[in-house]
Amino acid sequence: MHPTAIIKNQLFLNACAKNRTDTERPKVLDVGSRVYPRKGADPAAVEAKSRGPRALRSFCRKLGLQYFGLDMSAGINVDIVSSKAFLWQEIEDESFDYVLSTSTFEHNPFFWVTFAEIARVLKQGGKTLITAPAAGIVHRYPVDCWRFYPDSWGVLCTLTGLTVDEVISEPFQSLGVLPGAQWWDSSIVASKPAFDNARARTEFYERLKPLVEPYGEFGPDFKPVEVNKGPLFRAYLRRVVKEQQRQRDTPSGSAPQPDYLRNHMRSAMRPI
Ligand SMILES: C[S@@+](CC[C@H](N)C(=O)[O-])C[C@H]1O[C@@H](n2cnc3c(N)ncnc32)[C@H](O)[C@@H]1O
Repeated sequence: MHPTAIIKNQLFLNACAKNRTDTERPKVLDVGSRVYPRKGADPAAVEAKSRGPRALRSFCRKLGLQYFGLDMSAGINVDIVSSKAFLWQEIEDESFDYVLSTSTFEHNPFFWVTFAEIARVLKQGGKTLITAPAAGIVHRYPVDCWRFYPDSWGVLCTLTGLTVDEVISEPFQSLGVLPGAQWWDSSIVASKPAFDNARARTEFYERLKPLVEPYGEFGPDFKPVEVNKGPLFRAYLRRVVKEQQRQRDTPSGSAPQPDYLRNHMRSAMRPI
């Protein structure tokens, strides 16, 4: 997990722990918790690190919170692999106080289903912190499908009935200061309502059902698609190479500076 995300998770968990009484140990679910050893790394050492003092699991323990890692596939730092990849039948409604998910929604073929499952398994008044990138290179675990912007979270809350508490877009100040800023992460803190009556509760769960039910048939084995292999791509690449050649052949200093590029960069760099 990159440092920008670790810090946000720790600050969120610190705030969660402040609400805890001396006798309870609130439950935290981490969705997409699997840790992958880097090439050449010793899996046993990575396993030990995932349970070591700097891991989220230990951070929770120190705060008096119980950590449970859930993933679609078994591996390091995974406690729960649900029998259906997208439907967490093993997890009861309203059974977790807090849900985290970091750098997972972009790899999640059906992220709206997961958002609905998070809404279901949270306790009333429970909170979630979800962080996913708005930018960055293709990196497949085992697929890389989506990027998320601040308004993505608003739509997902409208869909599921969670309340937006706070949305974060990576600030410019962290660029070059903290590793991970280059992903331009976007995060949401959202809450599950406390229902006034049985009808409000029923309505909340009825609304989630159509978001979840059609996805029971899908397994976790999504295959990455082939990229840059077809005739359209080859024709496009020829055009790019030709343009590159044309720019190289233009005497330096007189190369046209395309306005669209400059304007695009300017608007892309404008803080929210
Ligand atoms: C980049 S990895 C792990 C990221 C980890 N949280 C971190 O920050 O280092 C993303 C993980 O999300 C898992 N994943 C994707 N969709 C999921 C889903 N619907 N439910 C559970 N896990 C999912 C993948 O199996 C993969 O292990």
